[in-house]
Amino acid sequence: MSFKFGTIFITHVFGESHGTCVGAVVEGCPAGLTLEERDVQEELDKRRPGKGPYVTPRNEMDTVAIESGTYRGVTTGAPILMRIKNKDVDDSVYERFTQTPRPGHADLTARAKYHGHHDHRGGGIFSGRMTAALVMAGAVAKKVLAMHGITVHAHLVQMGNVRVRDDLSDEEIKERPYTNPFHCADEGAITPMRETLERAMAARDSVGARIECRVCNMPMGIGEPFFDSVESVVSHAIFSVPGVKGISFGCGFDAVTMQGSECNDPYVVRGGRIVTEKNDAGGVLGGLTNGMPIVFDVALKPTPSIGREQRTVDLATMEETTMTIEGRHDPCIGIRAVPVIEHVTAVAMADLVRRASL
Ligand SMILES: Cc1cc2nc3c(=O)[nH]c(=O)nc-3n(C[C@H](O)[C@H](O)[C@H](O)COP(=O)(O)O)c2cc1C
Repeated sequence: MSFKFGTIFITHVFGESHGTCVGAVVEGCPAGLTLEERDVQEELDKRRPGKGPYVTPRNEMDTVAIESGTYRGVTTGAPILMRIKNKDVDDSVYERFTQTPRPGHADLTARAKYHGHHDHRGGGIFSGRMTAALVMAGAVAKKVLAMHGITVHAHLVQMGNVRVRDDLSDEEIKERPYTNPFHCADEGAITPMRETLERAMAARDSVGARIECRVCNMPMGIGEPFFDSVESVVSHAIFSVPGVKGISFGCGFDAVTMQGSECNDPYVVRGGRIVTEKNDAGGVLGGLTNGMPIVFDVALKPTPSIGREQRTVDLATMEETTMTIEGRHDPCIGIRAVPVIEHVTAVAMADLVRRASL
């Protein structure tokens, strides 16, 4: 079984958390792009578990193999199949979640949909591990975008109540996120974020986060009215990432308390080009790109699997009971979601760009 996104640049993802492998198939990538395993690996390494004290200790090398769609390091135009093998598999703690579903996870809803036949090990297809497939597809998408000079960068802008400075430069956002364990562009926010995380871990709890993503150098006029506006396509892709609870473009929900005179972005001419003086629209007007950076924020919920006692139901007896969860979990999924948001956005943008026949 694979899951599909896109219309021309099409991404399928397959695998399970504790099955043999996780992978992606990308269709619609133009022929003639250089694409080697090391290109995909470099992106995958940004998401890999087992790095640092604040992510799950699950130890996977995530070594990617490109099985088809390239010849001598160049894309052929045929579907590109990429996969990583699962090695560090420990499903001993997951069996009981089929009888006592974890609050906040997909155990109960998956059981209802698949009548109990789904692969529950490690969360199966509902595991954060599936996002490795999104990163693989995103690595290919970035190649397509690079042909047009389009770049995508995501970074952690909030963890719990700790927020980054709001005057971060484009250079800081581009260069810093992968130089620290929080994928954060503001060095001053790292210590309070670390304290927030350590407090949550000491309490056997978890913490939520907000990620900002920016797409730069998109030409004006990309997007497909009516139902495939830029916001719709990006949101569709972003909500494939488990744990995402919200997305807002530009000024987002602040628009509610603004006046039109504040919210509208005035047009000005700079270097012979029409640009806007500020970017509250987040780079999208009428569902089409306006040539400004596409900027949006994504809300990630706190990791549902926590060590604190929680209330649940024993499905065998239909009695209310309590549970505590042992095992290996990220205390803040927002940290490892940063490269995932970046790559799934690249996938969405590559589809829009290919649909515009660029
Ligand atoms: C990168 C990443 C890692 C994740 N790791 C965990 C984890 O260790 N434990 C956990 O309970 N949930 C984890 N999740 C979140 C669950 O997969 C997700 O909450 C669950 O599938 C329910 O889906 P929903 O939150 O979208 O409703 C992770 C999500 C991402 C994006």
